[in-house]
Amino acid sequence: MTDIGSDPILLADGLVKDFPGVRALNGATLRMSPGSVHALLGENGAGKSTLIKILTGLYQPDAGNLVVGGQPITLHSANDAAAAGIAVVHQERNLVPEFSVAENITLNRIPVRGVLVDRAEMRARARRCLDLLDLDLDLDAPVNRLSVAQAQLVEIARALSSENRVLLLDEPTSALTLQESDRLFELVRRLRDQGTAILLVSHKLEEVFAVCDTVTVLRDGVSVLEAAPLAEHSRDEVVTLMVGRSHQAASFEPHVVERDGPAALELDKVSTASGHRDISLDVRRGEIVGLYGLVGAGRTELAKALLGLDRVVSGEVRVHGQRARVRDVREALNRYRIGYVPENRKEEGLFLDQPLTMNIAVTVWNRIQRAFGYVPRARERKLVQEYTESLGIRASGPDQHAGLLSGGNQQKVSLAKWLAAKTEILIIDEPTVGIDVRAKSAFHQLIWQLAADGLAILLITSDLPEMVTLAERIVVMRDFQIAGSVPNDHDYERTSTAVIRLIHGSGSSNRKPYER
Ligand SMILES: Nc1ncnc2c1ncn2[C@@H]1O[C@H](COP(=O)(O)OP(=O)(O)OP(=O)(O)O)[C@@H](O)[C@H]1O
Ligand SMILES: [Mg+2]
Repeated sequence: MTDIGSDPILLADGLVKDFPGVRALNGATLRMSPGSVHALLGENGAGKSTLIKILTGLYQPDAGNLVVGGQPITLHSANDAAAAGIAVVHQERNLVPEFSVAENITLNRIPVRGVLVDRAEMRARARRCLDLLDLDLDLDAPVNRLSVAQAQLVEIARALSSENRVLLLDEPTSALTLQESDRLFELVRRLRDQGTAILLVSHKLEEVFAVCDTVTVLRDGVSVLEAAPLAEHSRDEVVTLMVGRSHQAASFEPHVVERDGPAALELDKVSTASGHRDISLDVRRGEIVGLYGLVGAGRTELAKALLGLDRVVSGEVRVHGQRARVRDVREALNRYRIGYVPENRKEEGLFLDQPLTMNIAVTVWNRIQRAFGYVPRARERKLVQEYTESLGIRASGPDQHAGLLSGGNQQKVSLAKWLAAKTEILIIDEPTVGIDVRAKSAFHQLIWQLAADGLAILLITSDLPEMVTLAERIVVMRDFQIAGSVPNDHDYERTSTAVIRLIHGSGSSNRKPYER
C-alpha cells in the first residue's frame, strides 16, 4: 500500500544532463518508495526519458547522485542497473526484430543446460510472462511480425520476467487500448502490494490518477513537484505545474457535416485479404468518424487496405461516389487525396536523420514543386515555424535532426507534416500517442478545424477520452468485423460505457473505464 513515509528505495538527487544545445536535466530529483506507484509527469521534452535512461545506466549524469536501497551507486551500464534490481520498459521499442517472442522475453537470462540453450525452459518462462498479461501470442513468431501494441506488450512481459525492486515504465500503454492497459495496471497493483517500487511515465492523465500514489512533475529538467501524494492534487493543478501556467482545455464549436450527396469515403461490404468481413462504413465531408476496438481487432489493417497496402477481395470502396481502386500510398494521396498518418510513425513517418524542416515539409513538396519547379526555402521555413510554435515542438532549431527529439516531439513533427498536406480524406491512426496535454489539445483543435474546413476524417485511437472528444460517431470493430456504432454526445460516461459494451458483446461488462 502507499507508504509515503518509508525510506526511499531509490533516490536521485540533483541530476544534470547536457546534450549538444540542450540541457535535458537541470537538477532533477526523484524519490521512490517501496510498495508504491509513482507518476513522473512533464511535457514533451521535459526530461523524463533522460532521467529513466540515467536510472538504467544508459546515460551518465553530468552531475548528481543516485542512491539505491540506501547505498550510493554509480550505474555504468544496463547490466549494472539490472544487478541493482531495476527493470525498465523504455519508451522506444527495444526488441531484436529477428528474434522470436520467447527469445526476446528471456533475452537477458537465456536458460542454459550444459552448453546448450534450454529451449523448453525458455518457452515455459516466456509463456508464464505472457500469461500474466493474458496474452496469447505465438512464442516462435519473430517480433518484427507483431503489431506496435503487441510488441509493446512483449516488452512489458520481458520487464516482468524477473523479480525486481524497482520497475520503470516509460509510457507503457502508449499503443494499448483501455482493456490491455487495465490488465497491465492490475498487475502493477499486485507488484506494488508485494513491495515493488514502480515508476509510471504517461501522458494519459486518466490512468495516472487511477493507478498512481505519488507524483513528481518535471518542467524543463527540474522537479517542480517532488514525490507528493497524488490524492492531494487535482488534475488541473498537476497540469498547471507541467505547463507552467494555467491550461484551458480546448473547446469546440459544432461544425456542419455535409449530409447530401455521396459520402467522401464509403466502404460497401468490403472484405480483405487480411480477413475483414463485410465492412460497411461511410465518412462524410466535415465529419470525424472514430474507429475503436481492442488491439488486434483489425483497425490499422483496415486503414492499410484503404491505401492499397492490403487487398480488397470483395465489396467496394468509393471516394466521392466513384469506385476507387487504390494501389499504393502515393496514388491514394495524389489521385484520391487520401492522407494517412500511420500509427508506427517513428519507422514509417519520419526521416530520423534529416532536419525538422524537411520532415514537416516533405508532403507539401510535391505540390510546391509542381507549381514552381523548386522548393522555396523561405516558405518551407515559415511553415515549419508555424507548426513548431503552435504545437510547442521543443528543438534546438529547425535544423535539428528529428531522431534526437524527445519521443513526443517526434510524434508532433510527423503529425504536423500530414496536417500540412492538402488532402480531402484523412485517416489518422493514434494521433496523440505520447503527446503532452497542451499539444494534445492543440492537435484536437487542429483536427477539429480540418473537419470544419470540410475534410472527412477517419480517426483510429485507443485513447477513449480522445475519441469521445473528437468523434461524431464511434464505430466499434471486433475480430475484423463491425460490432456496431455509437452516436457520440460527448458525454464520457455514457458514450464510453456504450462503446465498451459493444467491444465485449452485448451487456457483458458493467465495469466503468479507469475504475480502480
Ligand atoms: N541523445 C540525445 N541527443 C540530443 N538531445 C537529446 C537526446 N536525448 C534527449 N535529448 C533532448 O533532451 C530533452 C529531453 O528529452 P527527453 O527524451 O528526456 O524528454 P521526455 O520528457 O521523455 O519527453 P517525451 O514526453 O516527449 O517523451 C529534449 O529536448 C530532447 O530533444
Ligand atoms: Mg520520453
